Amino acid sequence: MSFFEIHESAPLSGQIRVHGSKNAVLPMMAAAILHRGITVLTNVPRILDVFWMIEILKTLGCQVCLEEDVLTIDTREMTNFVIPRHLAEKMRSSIICLGPLLGCFHRASLWHPGGCSIGSRPIDLHSEILTAMGALIVEEGEHLEVTAEKLSGCEFYFRFPSVGATENAIMCAVCAEGKTILKNVAREPEIRDLCRMLVAMGAKIDGIGTSHLIIEGGQSLHDTTIRIPSDRIVAATYLFATALCGGQIILLDAPIYDLKAVIAVLKQCGCQVQYRKGRLKLICSQRPYAIPYTKTEAYPGFPTDLQSLLMAVLCRADGISIIEETIFESRFQTALELQKMGADINIKGNQATIRGTAFLHGADVTATDLRGGAALVIAGIYAQGTTRVQAVEHIFRGYERLEEDLSALGADIVLRQ
Ligand code: UD1
Repeated sequence: MSFFEIHESAPLSGQIRVHGSKNAVLPMMAAAILHRGITVLTNVPRILDVFWMIEILKTLGCQVCLEEDVLTIDTREMTNFVIPRHLAEKMRSSIICLGPLLGCFHRASLWHPGGCSIGSRPIDLHSEILTAMGALIVEEGEHLEVTAEKLSGCEFYFRFPSVGATENAIMCAVCAEGKTILKNVAREPEIRDLCRMLVAMGAKIDGIGTSHLIIEGGQSLHDTTIRIPSDRIVAATYLFATALCGGQIILLDAPIYDLKAVIAVLKQCGCQVQYRKGRLKLICSQRPYAIPYTKTEAYPGFPTDLQSLLMAVLCRADGISIIEETIFESRFQTALELQKMGADINIKGNQATIRGTAFLHGADVTATDLRGGAALVIAGIYAQGTTRVQAVEHIFRGYERLEEDLSALGADIVLRQ
């Protein structure tokens, strides 16, 4: 089994480019199902989740070709509405094919999705909105058989602004007859990106970027070419790495306007942030300050995807910090691994209290999820001695070249087989 071997190598310095966004590209790939024709996506990250989504599209009968960072999806011969269990369970995002499959075939057969083990991941909100549009969902154990004689626009209020359920709702509404009004939808930048793609394909969507969307369904859709925006979570990973290890880095193509909550937290830690002409510079010249309280929230709040990375930074902070996790209940598993490196973290329910310590030491640790794995890697760069991070396949789900990028910033990290 491969693992990362990391030697203490702080501080970081250098310049890297941020690759395309995982959470943007996956729904956009699913959106290609909505129309018979050709969709071209550029700046596509070569990550495991994209490879699994390609497998799903091929199973449905699409011709899919990934050359460098250009993905071409040809749906003209698509015949199948069944996603087999082994693919559905590979990742959470398999569920966002449900809306497009219903839109295209009025039928879908799939299994409960898999994904990182960061907490229970129900699909009740997906079911509720699709049912409101006319779908009939028959669940037998983990299997879902979904049919819709007719899809009709509706008015729907989300009890919680689920990202995936919002994406399914939008994609289904684009094919439904009449107007759909979606209230309290997720406002993550990736929802905005999906809407922009659908509009470029011919859909009519008002309220893009807000929590209230109005979709006029039934427009005919056409071929399109879309560039995937940069990954805000990947950008933030390198910023947090520098906040922990010290140094000075420049990120090219960082989606600065989607990083407001992250930059606010980095400034609280004592980092200086400068932005000019597409170059985001972070300077961190002292031990990070503790942050009394941070809570993960739906966008525009501080993202749950960065909770473990912030925790790794605060392990070195001067003082006591508290993080409350409000989105995924099992996201504190990484704390147990950080403790093996000497971190002082106390977990009570959904709150972690972190007493910063000036030193961490290398250890053998295991990634339990994608972003938690990245947190262990940045802790390894700061820690004295050698750290080995096992189960790196979690990390490859969302980072195209984590070790290469960090090496370019001066980190001593190698992938061992
Ligand atoms: C997406 C992101 C993931 C991010 C998460 C929250 C992608 C591919 N993944 O995941 O990186 O961590 O948003 O920002 O974009 N929930 C329900 N019922 C549902 C659906 C969700 O109760 O039907 C709950 C979940 O258990 C969780 C919360 O809502 O507590 C957030 O989930 P959701 O926003 O749906 O996340 P994902 O779309 O799975």
